[in-house]
Amino acid sequence: MKVLIVGSGAREHAIARSLHLDPAVTEVHAVPGNPGIGQIAQLHTADQNDGASVAALATNLRADLVVVGPEAPLVAGVADAVREVGIPCFGPTAAAAMLEGSKAFAKDVMAAAKVPTAEPRVCANRGDLDAALAEFGAPYVVKDDGLAAGKGVVVTDDLAEATAHGQAILDAGGAIVIEEYLDGPEVSLFCICDGATVVPLQPAQDFKRAYDGDEGLNTGGMGAYTPLPWAPIDLVDQVVAHVAQPTLDEMARRGTPFQGVLYCGLALTSKGMRVVEFNARFGDPETQSVLARLETPLGGVLLAAAEGRLHELDPLEWSEDAFVTVVLASHGYPESARKGDPITGADDADAVDGAHVLHAGTAMDDGQLVSAGGRVLSVVGRGSTLAHARDVAYRALGTIDLPGSHHRSDIALKAAEGEANAREALA
Ligand code: AMP
Ligand code: GLY
Repeated sequence: MKVLIVGSGAREHAIARSLHLDPAVTEVHAVPGNPGIGQIAQLHTADQNDGASVAALATNLRADLVVVGPEAPLVAGVADAVREVGIPCFGPTAAAAMLEGSKAFAKDVMAAAKVPTAEPRVCANRGDLDAALAEFGAPYVVKDDGLAAGKGVVVTDDLAEATAHGQAILDAGGAIVIEEYLDGPEVSLFCICDGATVVPLQPAQDFKRAYDGDEGLNTGGMGAYTPLPWAPIDLVDQVVAHVAQPTLDEMARRGTPFQGVLYCGLALTSKGMRVVEFNARFGDPETQSVLARLETPLGGVLLAAAEGRLHELDPLEWSEDAFVTVVLASHGYPESARKGDPITGADDADAVDGAHVLHAGTAMDDGQLVSAGGRVLSVVGRGSTLAHARDVAYRALGTIDLPGSHHRSDIALKAAEGEANAREALA
């Protein structure tokens, strides 16, 4: 099987790595990919957000499957264009990707499907904004309705900051979603969907804030781990029963069946499980940990989803090991991202026993690997416990030098410390 991956992040590198390890996959191609992906796949240039270009490339390559990684091409209809030329594509149609493309749309689907989520108010002007902030009170949750790469959300106790973020969204011509604050730990659960059937992966936890102790701004994600030793034992079953399956059924009822990854971002609140957000793709950096743990070859799973055959799939097999991913970010991230700094030691990190390095914002400049984006590398550590996996990841990260870079030092720390504690059921 020949597979073409669309995207250029560490998530796509993780997907490429899993496909490269799948004996049924003979060729891995990527557009545009990155230097790390280029070590295991053939890279191509085309506009990844242009459906016609990606479909033409897939046709030329005689690809058996196209896997779309990021949200932007999905929302732009790249999966639709690929399917139109008769090639199976893993990833939702533009219509179904609206679950991520518009928070207001997602809330509407959740209401219809009776999926538990934070109560929202959609605001189109300053008056609505002020009223909604007053109604819910602090902490304020202010979101850009549209795509904002995980950075459109401000959670704050400061009314002036909440108002300013809302006003900035309005000034940019957008709509705002204000919602009830959800307390409790967050979980990401990726559900592989074929329009009708849900196959859940294992849950992971992401660290969205820039700095240790959840300080700083929201980012695309600074690290992740799986398994979650503290999570309720019936978490996955509960999410499938009360979130993923009802959402899939509602999307099918609307004539826009969802095929691809339904990323359920959840908060386990004092009042029960609530959806924080849906995404229409694999999460980054959770995917780097989750796919490393998946032992079932990935290609067959994604092809079964793309062809509507998930009900035929054998149960997925998972490693007993723990996997911790730590993101190395460039100087200035997330406010800005300095580019062109030399990266050294990435190969040494990759050679650390149990570790592997995935590229995101990297480029080659005259034979030298350099930074080219905000999140530069993901370092994944594997171990028999989270504590061991953390050790491996941080040891590997320690061999990498990138001037001005930063990373969190507390990824999976609390979970590793509480690893021995028993878990309870959610229901
Ligand atoms: P989103 O883009 O909707 O995923 O939001 C990004 C991050 O903001 C989430 O992962 C949460 O950490 C935080 N967040 C979003 N919505 C809420 C909420 N209703 N209550 C508390 N935190 C939230
Ligand atoms: N890890 C957050 C995201 O992928 O949106």
